[in-house]
Amino acid sequence: MTDRVFTITGGFGILGQAVARAALAGGARVALIDFAAEGRGLPEGVLAIGGVDLSDQTQAEGAMAKVAQAFGCLDVLVNVAGGFVWQTLEGGDLAAWSRMFTLNTLTCATACKAALPHLLAAGAGRIVNVGAGGAVKAAAGMGAYAASKAGVHRLTESLAEELKGKVTVNAVLPSIIDTPTNRADMPDADFAAWVTPGEVAQAILWLASDAASGVTGALLPVSGRV
Ligand SMILES: NC(=O)c1ccc[n+]([C@@H]2O[C@H](COP(=O)([O-])OP(=O)(O)OC[C@H]3O[C@@H](n4cnc5c(N)ncnc54)[C@H](OP(=O)(O)O)[C@@H]3O)[C@@H](O)[C@H]2O)c1
Repeated sequence: MTDRVFTITGGFGILGQAVARAALAGGARVALIDFAAEGRGLPEGVLAIGGVDLSDQTQAEGAMAKVAQAFGCLDVLVNVAGGFVWQTLEGGDLAAWSRMFTLNTLTCATACKAALPHLLAAGAGRIVNVGAGGAVKAAAGMGAYAASKAGVHRLTESLAEELKGKVTVNAVLPSIIDTPTNRADMPDADFAAWVTPGEVAQAILWLASDAASGVTGALLPVSGRV
């Protein structure tokens, strides 16, 4: 990873920070882009670009240009930005479907499009998206979320075909990640079975590495011990 430039969307969040730490430990240079104005407890040495709505093409392009200007290039895009909702169709609101699409599918497509000129210029560019195991087969209450993450899966496959030989495009599909929010929401669960943010980060790092140069269009389940 030495000197490779990573851009991590949703980089101020739990998983984004774990990916940042893993990439920095591998010798990469790291930029974090996030909707929040400021990140808390960010690792030292990262370029933090806050206040960016990645569903907006102009804002996404501006943020990617800042990364390329600061580091001289952009080699790896990791799309972590996203979110979750659980609601039944009967009891839920239909607006959640467009919210989930914007938050998960559109931010991913927009960030990929904005980063693409830089990734193509880099040579061996890499895109790693964060999908979801729960979008392979949706459980009750997971319709809007799973549909939006399935969109990320299909985008990953389609873009891998489009960019074959130029940029690899893959996705990790975590199951439940061991985060404080999930522990609070499911206090009786077996936390040890859940995949840790660090474990998901290592899978992402592998897909971004030279070792995975022959892998593109893969949807890699990262399920921990569930
Ligand atoms: N947690 C799980 O169990 C789990 C399981 C499977 C997949 N995933 C996926 O893994 C990813 C990270 O999860 P996490 O638990 O680390 O979530 P998180 O802590 O909430 O991090 C997501 C980050 O994305 C940012 N973001 C949201 N919308 C954005 C936008 N329009 N533009 C720029 N940044 C935006 C959020 O900023 P704000 O907070 O300011 O909105 C937040 O910092 C998500 O894609 C999630 O769907 C999570």
